[in-house]
Amino acid sequence: MRSFHLLALALAATGAASAAAATAPLAGLPTGPLGQAVQHGHAMIMNPDADPDMKTYVGNALSCANCHTEGGDNDHPGNFRFTASRYPSYSKRENAVITLEDRIANCFMRSMNGMRPETDSRVVVDMAAYIAWLDRGKPIMAPPPPAPPDPYKAMLHAAGRADVLAGAGLYKERCAACHGATGAGVAGSFPPLWGPDSYNAGAGLANVSKLARWVKGNMPLGNAHLDEKQAFQLALFVDTQARPDFVLSQHLPAGIRPQDYNAQVRSETDTVQSNLRKQGLSLSALR
Ligand code: HEC
Ligand code: HEC
Repeated sequence: MRSFHLLALALAATGAASAAAATAPLAGLPTGPLGQAVQHGHAMIMNPDADPDMKTYVGNALSCANCHTEGGDNDHPGNFRFTASRYPSYSKRENAVITLEDRIANCFMRSMNGMRPETDSRVVVDMAAYIAWLDRGKPIMAPPPPAPPDPYKAMLHAAGRADVLAGAGLYKERCAACHGATGAGVAGSFPPLWGPDSYNAGAGLANVSKLARWVKGNMPLGNAHLDEKQAFQLALFVDTQARPDFVLSQHLPAGIRPQDYNAQVRSETDTVQSNLRKQGLSLSALR
C-alpha cells in the first residue's frame, strides 16, 4: 500500500516537472492572480497533463497546441492572433453569437473529442485569459480578416481516387516517419492523425479545405514546404480515414439545461462519410 502510494507520488512529480519544463514562464505577464491565470491557461493549452481537471474534459490523445502550434503565438494557420479581439462573434455552425469561452469549449467537444466544460470553469477562464493576453492592447470587436483566396474549392470539385492515392504516397514519404504508417502517432511525441485518439468528424480539421490550409502552413513540422496540390491530396487522404463520429448530445454534460448551451443548433451528427458528402464528395468513389 505504502510503496504504491510513493510510486504514485513519484509519477505525479515527474508529470508536473515535464509539464513545467514544456512551458517556460511567459515574459511580460501582469503580476498577481491575473498573471497566474494566463500562465496556467498557457500551460494547459501546451499540455493537458498540466491540470488534472482539464484531463476530465479531454477524450483523445491531443493537446490544443498540437493544432494551435506554439500555443497560437505565431503566424501559422491556427494562430490566436486577433482571436480574442474578434469575440463575441457570430458562428454559423452554432447559428449563434458566441463568446471566446464558448469557442474554447467547442474545441473540447470536437477537436479534443471530449466533454464540453462549463464556460465559467477555471479551465476555460484561464485559457481565455491566456488567449486574451496574446491580444493585449489590440482593439475589441475587430472586424474579421479579409477571407484569403481559397485554392482548395476548385480542387474539391475535381477530386477523385487518384488524389487519395497520391495523398497516400505523399503521406508515406513525408509524414509517416513521425505520425506512423497507421496514422496513430507516437504517444508523448507525435499526435495521431486519424483513428480513435484523433479529432472527431465534427472538428474543423475534418473539413478537407481547412486541413489542407493548416497542413500547408504547419507540416512537416519545422519544414513546411508543400505546395497547395500536395497539401490538398494529403488532406483528402487523411480525412478519408476512420475517426470518431461526432454526436453532439454525447459531448454535452448530462442534464445540461438548454438555456445553458449557447447554440441554436441542438442536434448534429457527423461521420467521415457525411462530412465528405457535405463537401460534395463521396467516400465510396474515393476509396
Ligand atoms: C485537431 C486540431 C485542433 C485541436 C486539438 C484544437 N483546436 Fe482549436 N481550432 C482548430 C481549428 C482548425 C480551428 C478553426 C476552425 C474553423 O476555421 O472553423 C480552431 C479554432 C479555435 C478557436 C477560435 C480561433 C479564432 O481565431 O476564431 C479557439 C479559441 C480554439 N480553437 C481553442 C482551442 C483550445 C483551447 C483547444 C484545446 C482545448 C483547441 N482549440 C484544440 C483545431 C484544433
Ligand atoms: C518531424 C516530425 C513530423 C513530420 C514529418 C510531420 N509531422 Fe505533423 N506533427 C508533428 C508534431 C510534433 C505535431 C504536433 C505539433 C505541436 O504540438 O507543436 C504534428 C501535428 C500534426 C497535425 C495536427 C494534430 C493531429 O494529430 O491531428 C496534423 C494534422 C499533422 N501533423 C499532419 C501532418 C502531415 C499531413 C504531415 C506530412 C506532410 C506531417 N504532419 C509531418 C510532427 C511531424
